Amino acid sequence: MDKYIINGGGRLEGSVRVQTAKNSVLPILAAAVLTDEPVTVLNVPDITDVRNMVKILACLGCKTTYSGNDLVIDSSSANNCEIPRALAHELRSSVFLLGSVISRFRRAKIAYPGGCDIGIRPVDLHLTGLKRLGVNISEKNGYIECQCDKLTGNEIMLDCPSVGATENIMLAAVTAKGTTIIKNAAREPEIEDLQNFLNSLGAKVVGAGTGSVVVEGVEKLGGSVYQPISDRIEAGTFLIAAAMCGGEVELLGVNAENLSSLLHKLRENGCKLRIKNDKIYIRSDRRPVSVKSVETQPYPGFPTDLQAQMTALCTVCCGNSIITENLFETRFKYVPELRRMGADITVVDRSAFVRGVEKLRGATVVAHDLRGGAALVIAALAAEGNSEVLDISHIDRGYAGFEYKLSSLGAKIKRVGI
Ligand code: EPZ
Repeated sequence: MDKYIINGGGRLEGSVRVQTAKNSVLPILAAAVLTDEPVTVLNVPDITDVRNMVKILACLGCKTTYSGNDLVIDSSSANNCEIPRALAHELRSSVFLLGSVISRFRRAKIAYPGGCDIGIRPVDLHLTGLKRLGVNISEKNGYIECQCDKLTGNEIMLDCPSVGATENIMLAAVTAKGTTIIKNAAREPEIEDLQNFLNSLGAKVVGAGTGSVVVEGVEKLGGSVYQPISDRIEAGTFLIAAAMCGGEVELLGVNAENLSSLLHKLRENGCKLRIKNDKIYIRSDRRPVSVKSVETQPYPGFPTDLQAQMTALCTVCCGNSIITENLFETRFKYVPELRRMGADITVVDRSAFVRGVEKLRGATVVAHDLRGGAALVIAALAAEGNSEVLDISHIDRGYAGFEYKLSSLGAKIKRVGI
């Protein structure tokens, strides 16, 4: 398990290019199984979740080859419908394969998915939606087994705007007979990106980004060369790092539209922001002012994937803040680690009550999940003195070259293998 050694207290200065979005690439890789024509996904981030998704595709019989950072998937020889526990358990996105494998082969057997330990993370909405399309589903011995003679379009109302359930149902609906309407669908930009990718294969999907996605089934899908959108959560992580450490940072290749809830909060913190085309420039030259409250919500509300990073920033603001996590049950595991650094935080139910302190102090802390781990790195960069962040394999799941990008901004951070 590698660790980071960080010498904190310095400002961040410079520019950094944002990676392609993890949460777009993962469903798009699953969608590549839908067609027997070659699919090229451009500029795929080198992160563990993508590597594991590539292993899953190989297990299904797909051929995958890298050309630089571009990944070519040839599913013409795909011949297996089963994903073993060892692989499925590595990441949440294995569950997306249900929709695409069913779409292609009319049957699938997948062990329950893994992913960050941030809550119960049920898949009931995924399964209810697939059943509405005519899929017979049985769950036994930790596996989800699906089978259907044919997929038939239907109207599906999601109890909550689940990102994964919306995406899984889209994947199953693209070759179903007739039209599928997904109501109360998630509105995240990654949903629209999946729609655009599917349409580049010849699917007929409209409405992503609104609360209602409409899929008209087609007989056959073709190939595609596709550039997914940039990673708004990686971008937000760097913006919050700049706000917390102080400095001047420019992000390249980012869509500010997808980050408006965070940008609004950072302005409230007193940060100077300038947006020009696909660049965001942030300047933070004094102690940030606290935002009174942050409530995570489905898009376009404040993203749960930036909750931990925002809480870290709040720990050194002038004033108090309340951060409420409305999507996941246990997404405050990083809080005891921040307290070790001198943060004044109390968690009651789904809210963290933060009293801002002048400075955090370096400490040895442990990452428990992807975004909580990123929050600890940001806090250590801003803290006075040295820190160690252990178990950074969690961070490697979603941030490509995290320490290189931070070092290019002047951060004193290095990876040590243990
Ligand atoms: C996706 O997870 C993202 N992962 C998560 O990012 C992100 O936090 C989440 O959406 C919310 O934006 C990927 O895209 C790979 P959900 P997902 O289904 O699809 C409940 C990261 O850090 N729910 O929208 O699993 C669920 O319990 C990761 O990059 C059900 O009740 O999230 C939660 O309360 C972490 N039943 C809420 O919906 C279901 O069948 C939102 O979950 C499915 C979900």
